Amino acid sequence: MRIILLGPPGAGKGTQAKILAGKLRLPHISTGDLLRQNVSQGSELGKQAKDFMNKGLLVPDELIKEMLLQRFAQPDISAGFILDGYPRNLRQAKTLEEMLARLKMGIDFVIDLKTSEAVIIQRLSGRLVCGACGFNFHVKNMPPKKAMACDHCQGQLYQRSDDKEETIRKRLAVYVNESSELIEHYQAKKKLYSICADEDAQLVLERIVALVENRNDSLKV
Ligand code: AP5
Repeated sequence: MRIILLGPPGAGKGTQAKILAGKLRLPHISTGDLLRQNVSQGSELGKQAKDFMNKGLLVPDELIKEMLLQRFAQPDISAGFILDGYPRNLRQAKTLEEMLARLKMGIDFVIDLKTSEAVIIQRLSGRLVCGACGFNFHVKNMPPKKAMACDHCQGQLYQRSDDKEETIRKRLAVYVNESSELIEHYQAKKKLYSICADEDAQLVLERIVALVENRNDSLKV
């Protein structure tokens, strides 16, 4: 099964993708996580991407394409994947279609996690991320059991450098600007499903699982 999770920053794409990936035994491919790995390793790609990320801007399409081509060359994607953070615009959607056509693959579900601005700011300004396994926590909504330590691997938690209110607003503006064409594209292809993601993470997860297990067409938009 191949699933794309769409949605603004803070919609819960990473949170849901990580749990779903475990449940459906599929790899979770997050372009944000791959970029952050490159930045922390100091790779050439990371050096080129860092400034764009810190300003809340999109990293150039060509850099992301190269990174994804490498990821899609790994054998674990043969069973499917959960794609989080890609595509972000119509150009990337078309690039993805070309990449998948070469692999004789298609997309089964594009799930748009709808979230309001107030919720986004509250979630991102309190987000904590595990530096070791990448799991997300939140100081209020999903606090770790032990302060600043990951429940799953005991790794140290940190705050992302792009989770400052000014950068969050910039990322949100970029999303609003780029996503409408993308959403129309998947709607025209009859692949788009919409889920309200303002609610509790467990409830959102249950809705996604029900959708992919039963192909609930009442959520199609
Ligand atoms: P990326 O890492 O993809 O960031 P993003 O899209 O801005 O999304 P976030 O990771 O901020 O949010 P999320 O929806 O995953 O929410 P999360 O689950 O963490 O990209 C970062 C940067 O990399 C971009 O700005 C860009 O520069 C670059 N980039 C990445 N991909 C690119 C591409 N394709 N092209 C070009 N550039 C690219 O949840 C957030 C918080 O809320 C957490 O604390 C979580 O615990 C909490 N939470 C989640 N769900 C709930 C819930 N239902 N209820 C309560 N709290 C919740």
